Amino acid sequence: MNILLTGASGFLGRHISKALQDAGHLVKAVSRRDGFDFKQMTTKEAWLPHLKEIDVVINCVGIIVETANQTFTTLHYQAPLALFHACLESNDITVVQISALGANDNAFTPYQLSKKAADDALRSLPLKWFVLRPSLVYGRGGKSMEMFQRLASLPVLPLIDGGNQKIQPVHINDLTEAVLACLTSSKSKRTLDIVGAHSVLLKEWLQLMRAARGKTPAVIIPIPYKLSLTIAIFGKYIFPLMHPDNLRMLNKGSYADVNLMAEFIGHLPLDIKTGWGKI
Ligand SMILES: NC(=O)c1ccc[n+]([C@@H]2O[C@H](COP(=O)([O-])OP(=O)(O)OC[C@H]3O[C@@H](n4cnc5c(N)ncnc54)[C@H](OP(=O)(O)O)[C@@H]3O)[C@@H](O)[C@H]2O)c1
Repeated sequence: MNILLTGASGFLGRHISKALQDAGHLVKAVSRRDGFDFKQMTTKEAWLPHLKEIDVVINCVGIIVETANQTFTTLHYQAPLALFHACLESNDITVVQISALGANDNAFTPYQLSKKAADDALRSLPLKWFVLRPSLVYGRGGKSMEMFQRLASLPVLPLIDGGNQKIQPVHINDLTEAVLACLTSSKSKRTLDIVGAHSVLLKEWLQLMRAARGKTPAVIIPIPYKLSLTIAIFGKYIFPLMHPDNLRMLNKGSYADVNLMAEFIGHLPLDIKTGWGKI
C-alpha cells in the first residue's frame, strides 16, 4: 500500500515507518524536515496534491507542550481536520489517527481536548477510520521515556504523592502492530486504547528501570501534589515537559482495559518486564 505518514520523523513515526516498510508498504514521510509544516497545512487544498495514489493516511504529529508558534489547536486539530477532509475527496483512503489515552469524555487538559476534537471530527466523517489512543509508549528513542529513565537513575526519587499513580505503558512494538492491524482489519470505525498488558504504579515502573540497570531500589521522597504543581509553574520554564498540565494528567493515572486491543492485534501486548527487556 501507499501510505502517507505524518510525524514520520518522531519517536512513534520512525518506528511505524520502519514497521510499514518491513511489511512491504511504501511510505511517504511528512514532517517539517520533509518540507511539510502543519502550520501551513490547514486547508484541504494544501493536502490534496499529496494524496494522489495514497491508500492510507496515518497522522502521528503531536506536541506535548505548546510554544508561541506550535499550538495544540493548529497541530492537533486544524491541520488534521484539513487532512481528513482532503481524504474525503480522494479515493477510498483509510485514516489512522494517533491520538492519546485520556482523549475521551473525561479529557480535561488542552492537550487531551485538542486530540479529542480531531478524533471526534474524524469519527463524524464517512471514511474508513481508526483512532488509536496510546498510553505512555516506551521504546528506543522516546523523549518522555528518556525523561523517566533520567529520573529513575537518581538514587533519591522525588515523586508526586510517592509515585502511587497507576500507569499502563505500552511497548512501541505493540503500537506498531496495532497500526499494521488497521491496514488489514475488515472492521473500521474503531477507537482503541493502546496499552500494555497490565497497569503498574509509577514508583514500581521506575524501580524496575533501575533494576534492569543493576541498580538497587531508590529511596522515594513523596512530594505533595499541590506543592508539585507550584514547582511546575516555575519548573516548566527550565524543563518544558514539567508543565502543570502534564503533572495533572500523570496524577490522574493513565490506564485502560487491554482486552479490545488484545483482540485487535491477536494477542496480549507485552507486560512491562518482558517489554523492558526488548528495548
Ligand atoms: N510518545 C508517547 O508516549 C505518546 C503517547 C500517547 C500519544 N502520543 C502521540 O503520538 C504522536 C507522536 O508522538 P511522538 O512521541 O512520536 O512525538 P515526537 O517524537 O515529538 O514527534 C512529533 C512529530 O511531529 C512532527 N511535528 C511537530 N511539529 C510539526 C509541524 N509544525 N508540522 C509538521 N510536523 C510537525 C515532528 O516532526 P519535525 O519536528 O521533524 O517536524 C515529529 O515527526 C503525538 O500525537 C503524541 O501526542 C505519544
